[in-house]
Amino acid sequence: MTTPKQFELYDILKTYEDNYENGPFFDGELPTRPAIKETHKIFDFEVNSRLGVPAGPLLNSHWCDVYAQLGFDLPVYKTVRSVERATHPAPNCVFLDTDKQFNNSEINTEIHPGLRPALDEHITITNSFGVPSPKPSVWMKDIEEGNRKMGEGQLMVVSVNGTPGLEERNLVEDYGYVSAMAKEAGAKIIEVNYSCPNLGGSKEGALFSDPENSALVSKKIRESIGDTPLLIKLGWMPAEQLEKVIEANRPYVDGFAAINTIPRQVITAEGVAALPGEGRLSSGTCGFAIGNLAEEVTQNLIDLRTKWKDEFVICSVGGMMTAEDLHRRLDMGADLVMSATAAMWDPYLAQKFHQYK
Ligand SMILES: Cc1cc2nc3c(=O)[nH]c(=O)nc-3n(C[C@H](O)[C@H](O)[C@H](O)COP(=O)(O)O)c2cc1C
Repeated sequence: MTTPKQFELYDILKTYEDNYENGPFFDGELPTRPAIKETHKIFDFEVNSRLGVPAGPLLNSHWCDVYAQLGFDLPVYKTVRSVERATHPAPNCVFLDTDKQFNNSEINTEIHPGLRPALDEHITITNSFGVPSPKPSVWMKDIEEGNRKMGEGQLMVVSVNGTPGLEERNLVEDYGYVSAMAKEAGAKIIEVNYSCPNLGGSKEGALFSDPENSALVSKKIRESIGDTPLLIKLGWMPAEQLEKVIEANRPYVDGFAAINTIPRQVITAEGVAALPGEGRLSSGTCGFAIGNLAEEVTQNLIDLRTKWKDEFVICSVGGMMTAEDLHRRLDMGADLVMSATAAMWDPYLAQKFHQYK
């Protein structure tokens, strides 16, 4: 095992652009990997493990490459759009002052920024980027590059988001359009983001809890990408709402990734929004404190799959900070597990996961 040292592969004190160009900031040793005893089938692909990094921290093909080398066999390429889009102003990530698990009555309530906790497995942050995107010509070429960089038994997933208010297409059409672009670029699995708390409450950020409209979009995407495996990314919602959303989307999608971040209002002790700019009082929180809420959604998805004798893929995301957390979700019945926040600070998380049992 490697010597303990504090890392920050995504440097939250640097701009998004600096991280994009120069990250990940990692000068440690690449971990050695135990021999792969069995591979796993995900759709038609054989993969070395069921561990990934979800959409967000891996900003481009170089980031996906480094994390694949660190042992994350399913890196997700950060959500892209059909048009170029700037990032929200820095800072984009801030540590939060909490050492407890959030419960659902706290969603959208106030919380204060804090310091990096002594133990990285207790990190809870807010992140707010606004789903930026390079020009499609840039990310499409970069996806080809990312596919080439994956090792044997590794698979890059591509995440996309529709964009409202375009002259050329309405939002539903744009979801189909950007998914088709991802497929054309070589995406082997497409994940579509229906849940982003950092878009000022706009339509594309809140699709996930709307059964009819999300299904309309999923149908359009399915028509646009043929049989490419399709996951949709959801946020936390109560069990009854989740059931309606899954039932409505099930005919069009192959699986569900959940959860995205939990919205909270991040304000300083002086009572001002911690993140600068319009529409950023409420932002997505992730890491340690959302673990229980995420686990609840994973369990609800498993229960629905059992009840309907279905086979949809469940990609569990949210609040898994240690190898033990990741294995527990697999033991519950999740097919895939992915960690964003923990992987930003612990380059050896995948190594610990592979050595766990
Ligand atoms: C820095 C950062 C950027 C993110 N960007 C995206 C994104 O572009 N698209 C998306 O679907 N989720 C995004 N997320 C959400 C994560 O995929 C994940 O759902 C969430 O962080 C919960 O997982 P965690 O507790 O392991 O961090 C982002 C998360 C982080 C930390």
